[in-house]
Amino acid sequence: MASGRIALLCLLGLLLVAASPAAIAAKDDKIFYQITFMWPGAYCAQTKAGCCMPKTDVAPASDFYVAGFTVYNATTNSSLSSCSNTPFDMNQIGDATRLMQYWNNIRCPSKSGQKGWKNAWETSGVCSDLTESAYFDTALALRDKINPLSRLVSNGIKPDFGLYSVKKIKEVIEEGIGAPALIQCSKGPFNKFQLYQIYVCVAEDAKTFVECPSPRKPYTCGDDILFHPFKKWMLKTNSTKSYAAADAIDQLLEAVMEI
Ligand SMILES: *[C@@H]1O[C@H](CO)[C@@H](O)[C@H](O)[C@H]1NC(C)=O
Ligand SMILES: *[C@@H]1O[C@H](CO)[C@@H](O)[C@H](O)[C@H]1NC(C)=O
Ligand SMILES: *[C@@H]1O[C@H](CO)[C@@H](O)[C@H](O)[C@H]1NC(C)=O
Repeated sequence: MASGRIALLCLLGLLLVAASPAAIAAKDDKIFYQITFMWPGAYCAQTKAGCCMPKTDVAPASDFYVAGFTVYNATTNSSLSSCSNTPFDMNQIGDATRLMQYWNNIRCPSKSGQKGWKNAWETSGVCSDLTESAYFDTALALRDKINPLSRLVSNGIKPDFGLYSVKKIKEVIEEGIGAPALIQCSKGPFNKFQLYQIYVCVAEDAKTFVECPSPRKPYTCGDDILFHPFKKWMLKTNSTKSYAAADAIDQLLEAVMEI
């Protein structure tokens, strides 16, 4: 009897010793993701160099582009970077069509986008528990789920050079995903603030949306901001192949605007 009780106590002790650091570690090990969406219409309007059609076979989408998918320590809210040395391998991605559409680089001169993916993986992706292909798939799946343009357009907020309330833009996103988004503006035509980037955060499960940590320097927007159009002539190009791609962009955009 007594030896049984001692054994039980020992077992309990062992369990406590084993459980407590594990519980703390589990809490501290939590991460969350921040996905950044960039509006190309604003980017093309705000940069002196303009924007360029990417050097890809696939036309960019007429949509917000993923401009970042970063990993944060959920205990401290600090961003994690370069957590391991797993190099980027283009072969892991397989079919890059959707990355070319939704996670491209329209900076001039024309780029293929690969450097951006490499940088995202080697800086942030390696801090997730995901494989390289899962990291990019997760970002694209989140893009599909959040779908900022379609949410905004279906609430009457369209890239038509109109002025829209930042409050309303935030409400539309929050109603859709259940967590607030951060809105970043840039200076557009006539020095007016325009919708530039939208930041959304999601827990480690990549399903539960959470509030993003406030940026160190709060983003400045007016009460009402410009939603700049995005048209094919904004993407500079040298090749006839790309012109065909640009035509496709405008057709897609017109289709989106009619929703
Ligand atoms: C988060 O930060 C805490 C405190 O600095 C640290 O103990 C923990 O290991 C970090 N977690 C991750 C996943 O980096
Ligand atoms: C992290 O950010 C969230 C959202 O802004 C905030 O509620 C939370 O208090 C922050 N945590 C820390 C440790 O700063
Ligand atoms: C077009 O060609 C010119 C001259 O070679 C180059 O400077 C420019 O960057 C190119 N533009 C694009 C969009 O590739």
